[in-house]
Amino acid sequence: SVPLFLDCDTGIDDAMAIGWLVATPGVDLVGVSTVSGNLDAAGGARNTLDLLALLGRPEVPVSVGAHDFLDHPYSGGAPEVHGVNGIGEVELPRSPAAPTGTSGAQAIVDAARAHPGELHLLAIGPFTNVALALDLEPRLPELVGRFTVMGGAAMAPGNVSAVAEANVANDPLAAHRVFTAGFDLTMVGLDVTMEHVFEESHRQALLAVGTPGAVAIARMLGHYFGFYAQRYGRPCAVLHDPLAAAVATGDVDLALAPTVPVVVDHTDGPGRGQTVVDLRDRYQGYPRTYENGTRVALEVPGDFAGQLLARLSTL
Ligand code: BDR
Ligand code: CA
Repeated sequence: SVPLFLDCDTGIDDAMAIGWLVATPGVDLVGVSTVSGNLDAAGGARNTLDLLALLGRPEVPVSVGAHDFLDHPYSGGAPEVHGVNGIGEVELPRSPAAPTGTSGAQAIVDAARAHPGELHLLAIGPFTNVALALDLEPRLPELVGRFTVMGGAAMAPGNVSAVAEANVANDPLAAHRVFTAGFDLTMVGLDVTMEHVFEESHRQALLAVGTPGAVAIARMLGHYFGFYAQRYGRPCAVLHDPLAAAVATGDVDLALAPTVPVVVDHTDGPGRGQTVVDLRDRYQGYPRTYENGTRVALEVPGDFAGQLLARLSTL
């Protein structure tokens, strides 16, 4: 089994990603850290602990990570997308488990040192904890085996500004440091996550599974669907974080994913939060693999929503 550490801001699609990881055979979820994003880091940890307990994994250690971002304070989450409590106002049974006393950044470093060269890191929130972990342990990129992130947009438009995706936009400086640190890094951005959509039929099928975990996630999705209905004209949800989880567990086909340089605009101009992805080789079919480049997912074919429904139905 593969030791996997998750950094997240739980969050409705984060909850789906956690469901994916718990339901996937061969994944050893060794720990979770939370960061402010969809809600504050402490609230995200509460949601994570409660969800893990509901899914039968109360022993997974959860560490509260950064409340504020590297160069600016946290100023409120995304209640219109994820609800005030981050999980669509669904009240989960309280887990008796408490967060570890360790910081999120330290927990990442500890996990990497415990599994040198083998740990798979998955980050589906702002990248503050990972940037702080790099300060604590500059050898982190060598200690971590593979790193998958949900964040950024290579050619797709942004989702919080014309060019910026939310996880990068929340802490562009942290994202810049993480993208340029030399990790074996795969970016699962809006180019692919916006192409995979959970429909009301999927949600109803998940509700009908009837187990506490499946029902809780389906109920959270009711709120998320309301947000996306304004954009798509029907209740549905795009699958950001679960798709990144599926890339991390090797369950989807990265049909087109060139390894190219990525930097992040962390200036105060209109490009703030943009992932600047060098796709100049596009018309030659990406013949080059850049040293220290990031593998940027540009196409993930197939019925991922159906795959996700099937996996979450085993919860
Ligand atoms: C990302 O931002 C958060 O709101 C979601 O959980 C996801 O990680 C999408 O831009
Ligand atoms: Ca997230």
